[in-house]
Amino acid sequence: MVNYKDLGLVNTREMFAKAVDGGYAIPAFNFNNMEQLQAIIKACAETKSPVILQVSSGARKYANQTLLRYMAEGAVEYAKELGWEHPQICLHLDHGDTFELCKSCVDFGFSSVMIDGSSLPYEENIALTKKVVDYAHQYDVTVEAELGVLAGVEDDVVAEESHYTKPEEVIDFATRTGCDSLAISIGTSHGAYKFKPEQCTRDPKTGKLVPPPLAFDVLEEVEKRLPGFPIVLHGSSSVPQEYVDIINSHGGNLPDAVGIPEDQLRKAAKSAVCKINIDSDSRLAFTAAVRKVLAEKPGEFDPRKYCGPARDEMTKLYKHKIIEVLGSDGKAE
Ligand code: G3H
Ligand code: 13P
Ligand code: ZN
Repeated sequence: MVNYKDLGLVNTREMFAKAVDGGYAIPAFNFNNMEQLQAIIKACAETKSPVILQVSSGARKYANQTLLRYMAEGAVEYAKELGWEHPQICLHLDHGDTFELCKSCVDFGFSSVMIDGSSLPYEENIALTKKVVDYAHQYDVTVEAELGVLAGVEDDVVAEESHYTKPEEVIDFATRTGCDSLAISIGTSHGAYKFKPEQCTRDPKTGKLVPPPLAFDVLEEVEKRLPGFPIVLHGSSSVPQEYVDIINSHGGNLPDAVGIPEDQLRKAAKSAVCKINIDSDSRLAFTAAVRKVLAEKPGEFDPRKYCGPARDEMTKLYKHKIIEVLGSDGKAE
């Protein structure tokens, strides 16, 4: 048994309480490799932003959970080396799907876990979530749960259509499970294709897709019923058009990729939403930078020469999110 406190990590409790009070959101960035982790930590150290490092099942399969955990431990020391005196770094399991997986993360030094029972019938979601909460809380590990279904594909959780969270269920769910935060469905989804073209309108000038607004009425109803309770938004990448254009003009093919406009996320960050999940945007930044270097320098074969620029681009992206979208800069001095 490894306790996350011995690794210099923190759980989400205090981060979320401050974020709810302060009207901003904590960035939850997924990581799968060293360059991504370096970029996240550099961006957070330079902006003094608290951060949640997320490990998905895909990341565990790709990079190995043990290695990722040690990397997160190393990240705390790296942050201090960069001059961030009191790093506020949480290591979080993203979309945990079984009690056993959540338990193994708690036992191994994660400071927060998500149990995603959103695809289960309501009572089964409650039972599974409660079981995880009862275990995790013994070690002061915080637990995120999910109610409502996001459209799109997330590892093993596949949903054709989204079902918005039913506000009338949230009090019962939060009370009976004891979860520390709740992911809700209000129209976001995972990946770089968040809306079908037929769900969008087209900007007559650019021909680009303009997505429909998020269901802020559902969010407000949830907030009314659970005042001050930490709400989480998954699937919150914006799919920056400049990255899509660089990718497409350097041999890529991402037709009609579309994300959540940043003004919608800014509005959400000021509300009870205190954790915003971003993964796809970092993948796009990485891919755009790599494609550009390889297209411009076909003779390059040193991975540091294209992963380095990719890391710089991701750092820029993370800082932009922190400062311009979430408002979490300066909140972990
Ligand atoms: O929830 C989805 C995240 O973007 C993780 O995706 O399972 O491909 O790592 P992944
Ligand atoms: P995006 O695919 O929009 O980046 O969402 C990531 C996410 O929700 C991870 O849990
Ligand atoms: Zn997610």
